[in-house]
Amino acid sequence: INRIGVFTSGGDAPGMNAAIRAAVRTALYNGKKVTGIYHGYQGMIENSMFDMNSRSVSSIIQKGGTVLKTARCMEFKTTEGRAQAYENLKDAGVDALVAIGGDGTFTGAEIFSREYDIPVMCIPGTIDNDLNGTDLTIGYDTANNTVIEAIDKIRDTAASHNRLFFVEVMGRDSGCIALNAGVAGGAEAILLPEKETAIDELIEMLEHNAGRDKSSMIVIVAEGDKNGGATNVAKRVKEKFDYFDTKVSILGHLQRGGAPSSADRVLATRMGYAAVNELLKGNTRSTVGIRGSEIVTTPLEEALSKKELKLNEDLVEIAKIMAI
Ligand code: F6P
Repeated sequence: INRIGVFTSGGDAPGMNAAIRAAVRTALYNGKKVTGIYHGYQGMIENSMFDMNSRSVSSIIQKGGTVLKTARCMEFKTTEGRAQAYENLKDAGVDALVAIGGDGTFTGAEIFSREYDIPVMCIPGTIDNDLNGTDLTIGYDTANNTVIEAIDKIRDTAASHNRLFFVEVMGRDSGCIALNAGVAGGAEAILLPEKETAIDELIEMLEHNAGRDKSSMIVIVAEGDKNGGATNVAKRVKEKFDYFDTKVSILGHLQRGGAPSSADRVLATRMGYAAVNELLKGNTRSTVGIRGSEIVTTPLEEALSKKELKLNEDLVEIAKIMAI
């Protein structure tokens, strides 16, 4: 390996910059050259690349977003798109890749490294925490803290007005943020994409709580909940439940921004360092991850298998008990 290409792809996540910095500096430390690729797979196809040195990543560890920009690239899903990307990488002398992103990024890396002779190591960067091969993804801790801060603020106003709030958080397929932030924010109920909650069941729960002298209630609704999001849930609950005045708050993309937490910066630094070292050892088509306190690697195919992803059922049960 002479030159390692580094890129971020898919939804940005706080801590991606720390991972870029670690990968770049570890590669340079080992005498390798580094190419930064803008906008993920899109930049490979459009030849948007530049030479990176140690100063290219100065003062970025504390920043949210990604300095390499990102995109969800449809063209890379075509064989022509991938052929163009490979040609551009070859011309630039890039002979190995570090890909930072979520399941879309991993899927692209898996297909590309199967088709072309280019080693790829992935780093899990997504606020969703929905990848196998790691206990935690980069950005998840920061996003949880952002959501909790928002819930706390909503609780202040909800309690002052005796209101019921439906707070929608991100997670199209994954209820990780909803569940964790719901428990940490003391939510009265949590609706998850992985579990169907009937509206009548939810109303029953709220009625039960309303009779317990509560001054406010907060229901966390994951974006991917099968009832169709917080606005729909609130509308349907309101038709039958009028004990509390009802409001909706959709947190949206603010959950993806902000300075990464200390935990995310350290995790990203360890993962960036490990990804490059794994490439140099000859590893490929795998992701780095963290299990307990150990950095591990997992083949991409395994990391992408959804069947291994399980909701923390204990936490679901604890959340219900804590709401009484
Ligand atoms: O995958 C991360 C994520 O933030 C999801 O939680 C969310 O459903 C999605 O990205 C939103 O994507 P976009 O920024 O393209 O709207």
